[in-house]
Formats: sequence, structure tokens, C-alpha cells
Amino acid sequence: MVCLGNICRSPLAEGILRDKTTKAGLNWEVDSAGTNGYHVGEQPHYLSQKVAKMNGIDISSQKCRHFVKEDFDRFDKIYAMASDVIEEMKWIGKDKYNASIVDLLLNEAYPGKNMDIPDPWYGTEPGYHKAYQLIDAACEALIKNHWGE
Ligand code: 4NP
Repeated sequence: MVCLGNICRSPLAEGILRDKTTKAGLNWEVDSAGTNGYHVGEQPHYLSQKVAKMNGIDISSQKCRHFVKEDFDRFDKIYAMASDVIEEMKWIGKDKYNASIVDLLLNEAYPGKNMDIPDPWYGTEPGYHKAYQLIDAACEALIKNHWGE
């Protein structure tokens, strides 16, 4: 799960997908990273933590890390929260960038629509609830679409 800061959207996506896969009994490795690296080592944004907690998910132990080109070797599938994130992933990945394993997360819930999860970073708490709802729906669809693979 990849966004720009790995501080607002992708930590929610990591926490939500891990919670759903654990409950479904799936042994998937779930991780998140950010393309800009400005917040490396930090906990998720306090509003992401708050909204996750209101939905029964504790993401407080997650730590921000920078997306690296080796992530293309490590993971079967890489989801971007928005299309600008994919452009950054291409720049970081260079020769390792693999379009066949990259998709926008919301395409799992809304196939082919290429929708972004709006960045709540510059806004207030409702933006984090909106991000949570979109990510939750996408992760629910993701498991239904891929659990048999
Ligand atoms: P995120 O939001 O990509 O959802 O984590 C952002 C957080 C921080 C910054 C940009 C986006 N930033 O530029 O510091």
C-alpha cells in the first residue's frame, strides 16, 4: 500500500487490509510505504490513528518508511492510493518498475474507473473518515477478488 507520505492514507490501508486478511485466515504479508520520505520513522498521522481506532483498528505501532525500488522484487502486488503516487513509483523504481503488479487501490472496488483516494493531509477529520470508508470498501473487494490466488 503506497501513498506520498505514508502518514495518512497508506497506513490506514495497511491496517485495514491486515485486519481483514487476519480475520479471513489469509497468510498475506501486508506493508505500506511512502514515495516522498518526509516522515520516515514517524507514527501514522494522529487523525488516521483516531479514525482507525474508532473502527476498532490499532495502527499506532506502524512506522513510516520510504518506498524503494526493491519493493518491486518483494511484493506480488503494489497498490497506489492515487495516480500521482504511481508517477512517483515509476521514478523511484526505474528499471525495476513493473506495471503488471501495480494498480490503483480503488480499482478493486470500482474496476477501470481509475479513481484516487483524496489526500486528507491538508484537511480536517472528515477527510480521514472519507479516506477510511473508501479504503475499507476497496480492501473488502480486494480480498473477494484475489483470495483464491
Ligand atoms: P499521505 O498524505 O500521502 O496520505 O500520507 C501526505 C502526507 C504528507 C505529505 C504529503 C501527503 N507531505 O508532503 O508531507
